[in-house]
Amino acid sequence: MEINKLKIEQIISNSEADTYNAGKEFAERLDYGSLAIFTGELGAGKTQFIKGIGEYFNIAEDITSPSFAIINQYSGSLDGDSIPILHIDLYRLTKKSELATIGFNELIYDEDSIKLIEWPEIAEQYLSEAMFKIEIQTHPAEVSTRKIIITEIKN
Ligand SMILES: Nc1ncnc2c1ncn2[C@@H]1O[C@H](COP(=O)(O)OP(=O)(O)OP(=O)(O)O)[C@@H](O)[C@H]1O
Ligand SMILES: [Mg+2]
Repeated sequence: MEINKLKIEQIISNSEADTYNAGKEFAERLDYGSLAIFTGELGAGKTQFIKGIGEYFNIAEDITSPSFAIINQYSGSLDGDSIPILHIDLYRLTKKSELATIGFNELIYDEDSIKLIEWPEIAEQYLSEAMFKIEIQTHPAEVSTRKIIITEIKN
């Protein structure tokens, strides 16, 4: 059995714009079917990073936190083709059984869209397929500094 190869990189962000730009740059690694999960405390910058991804895919609408809606779908474009971007935030779910209610069990396997998931912990049993993990760490003393850790798992 071949061991999964991990590639880990770290980016220091000193502003909201830095995190946005890190997302925009990261986005070129995403393709149809990609699954990326985002961890980090409230206000760490997960949505800022995802807004940058949205710019790369030419999403015109403002990407906002889907905490209330749980799932927001945007229509992006990639090489002239359209590509659905699903922005999912599981923060408000309290029971694993609610995942079925929102259709998560199917959409997680969707090969036609890009899936970006904030607060993925409650769905842990579905996440072994995640190709990218983005962890955003805050700094105890520097309020505008973040460490962004991108882990790529090559399956
Ligand atoms: N270096 C930085 N990178 C990103 N955001 C920053 C940075 N410095 C300050 N901020 C601020 O932190 C906040 C990040 O908010 P954002 O909604 O992206 O966080 P989040 O991780 O998605 O939170 P939540 O878990 O509530 O969804 C914004 O208010 C932003 O202005
Ligand atoms: Mg968010």
